[in-house]
Order: sequence, then structure tokens, then C-alpha cells
Amino acid sequence: MTPKVPFVDLSAEWEPVRAEALRRIADVFDHGRFVAGPEVAELEQRLAATVGSNFAISCASGTTALLMAMMALGIGPGDEVIVPAFTFIAPAECALILGASPVLVDVQVPSGLIDPDALEAAITPRTRAIVAVSLFGLPADFDRINEIAARKGVPVIEDAAQSLGATRNGKSSGTLAGIGCTSFFPTKALGGAGDGGALFTDDADTAKRLAEIRDHGQSGKYHHVRTGLNGRLGSMAAAALLVRLEMFEPLLEKRRHIGRTYDRLLGDARRSGLLDFVTDEGIGHSARSQYAVVVKDRENVAKSLEAAGIQTAVHYPQALHRQPVLQDCRCSGSLENALAMAEKVLCLPIHPALSDDQVDFVAETLCKALTK
Ligand SMILES: Cc1ncc(COP(=O)(O)O)c(C=O)c1O
Repeated sequence: MTPKVPFVDLSAEWEPVRAEALRRIADVFDHGRFVAGPEVAELEQRLAATVGSNFAISCASGTTALLMAMMALGIGPGDEVIVPAFTFIAPAECALILGASPVLVDVQVPSGLIDPDALEAAITPRTRAIVAVSLFGLPADFDRINEIAARKGVPVIEDAAQSLGATRNGKSSGTLAGIGCTSFFPTKALGGAGDGGALFTDDADTAKRLAEIRDHGQSGKYHHVRTGLNGRLGSMAAAALLVRLEMFEPLLEKRRHIGRTYDRLLGDARRSGLLDFVTDEGIGHSARSQYAVVVKDRENVAKSLEAAGIQTAVHYPQALHRQPVLQDCRCSGSLENALAMAEKVLCLPIHPALSDDQVDFVAETLCKALTK
């Protein structure tokens, strides 16, 4: 049965530009440069202009972007990489791939954003990088994070996989740290027609290193100056993203509209202590990639919504130190907020194809479920 309110509806999101995307993909078949075609360079220029960075380097996925960022920083065995304990596994996973040790630090409730005090306490002489995630669309506190990192001499990577289009104090997410990484996974704010990712930097030398790493460490054809990989984004993926980028602002505005509507409709429930959520007030603009609420009795609340035909999702059901593959990682502090987030977080539908009536219905049904 089709849900009354689906959690995502990618066909509907693509519908307005589907014909144009197919036309641009057909162009790729015509010129035949399926890898490193003109669409890739055009996309990189457009992405750099969109976030206001000197360089954008496209790549195969958000995970590849994080891996390439860590490779560009020379991270390897014996190094520690600080990552939040509540997020998608990719930053911790990339540290592991390189033989480094992820160090898990606590986050704040209800934002799920890395706690700058916990981060500072986790830094040791072995710390070689900090990955701060701009979770659910809201930039982390990069003013404090960058200040701490500069004082300790540690580079910062922004994981902006969920936050492209967001701003903090007028600066775009993706440019809030030395290197920014994003994802074009289809459900992201700028979702592609498949996997994809990009890195942002203002530093020409870092950009050059990243471009080499993406292409087997080559500085010229068959001249390999460093360890690299095949991290390229294909021309068809770039073609679809170019079309999608055309409508990025209206898509973002739609997400923000839905976010503000939820903020308003759930305000009373928050004031009564029935649930909690973070807004972007006083911070900037969230990309509203997820609308996450923190509720006590999540399973039952989710069941009530499901019974009414509303799909929800749990991002993420486990704090990272509870994942089997990360069992041996160093945890800094108790990580109690990461555990609380994993137990209580519930994400409501917020995709741009939702109607105002659907949003009202979700908020109304949720409020009823909370007082049941
Ligand atoms: C916070 C975060 N980091 C990294 C990634 C990895 O991106 P990708 O799926 O494109 O590899 C994701 C996407 O799921 C994410 O949400």
C-alpha cells in the first residue's frame, strides 16, 4: 500500500527536470567521454561558485571524499582522527581504511552535533585530524571547533554530506573548515542520479593533491607521484547533477519551508517537554536535509505514525561505539549523549515533494501520539 506520507519520493522530486536530465545524459552518449567529460569540469565550476570556495573537486561518493581528504592530510597508521560518536559511519570507517584510529567523542542533544568541549578533551599528540559533521543539515559550531583546532595545530575536515546549501554566520557549509566533503547520494539535499560526492577547499596545493589522489595519484598520464585511487565521478552523474543544481535553491527553500512549519506546529509540544528538536535560529540556515526530533518512547511514536500512513526513519539507531567494527576504538568520555540520541531520535518526512497538507498531517499525528 502506498503510504499517505512517504519518507522519500525521489521520482516526484526529479519529475520537473527529468526530461532535461535525460537530454543532458544523452549528450554524454553523443560525445562519448563517459569519464572526465566536459560535464565534470562544468559541475566543479558550478559547485565552487555555489558554496563560494576557490576549488571544488568532484568524486565518486561522500565516503570517497572523506577518504581523499584524509589521504591528502597524510593520515595513516598510528594517527588518531577525532569523529563524532553519533553520525553515519563513513568518517570513522575512512580512518580505519587508512590504518588510523578513529577516536569517538560525544555530541550535543538534540542537535547531534559534535560537542566542542568533548572534542578538545579528546585531542592528544597523536591527533592528526578532526572531522566535524554538519548533521541533519545544520552546520556544527565551526567557530569554536576551528579555534580549538588552530590552537592545537590540528586540521579540520567538515563532513557536509547532509548540509550542502546550509550557512553558518553567512558562510556556506562545505567551506567552514580547511577541507569540506559532501555527498550527492540521491536522498541528500543536492541528490544525484546515483552515487557522487565532492570536496571543497580554498587552498590551491590541497586542491592539486586531491585531484591527483582522485586519479591514481597521477600528476600527468602514467606519472604517479602519490598513493591515490579511482575516485572519479562519471560524466552522466555530473550531467544529472548539473540539471539538479539549476533547481537547488527552490528545492532548499521548499525544505526550509517544511522545516519552519514543523518548528511552528511542534513548538507547543516542545515547550511542554514532550519532544525536543533544534532550530537554526541564531546560527544561520539549515539545509533541512532531515527533520530529527528527540522523543522518549520512540518505538511507540513511530508505530502510531506508521499506523496513520506516515513513514519515518531512525538516523541512527546505534552510537558508533556500539557498532561491532568500532568495538576497539578509543572513546573519549562517556558518550552518553550519543547513546541518548541513538535511543530517542526519530526523523520525519521533509522531502521537497511534500504538500503543506501532508506536513500538517504529520505534525498533528505526532502531537496526538505524544499525548497518547
Ligand atoms: C554524515 C555523512 N557522512 C558521509 C556520508 C557518506 O556519503 P556517501 O553515501 O555518498 O558515501 C553520508 C551519507 O550517507 C553521511 O550522511
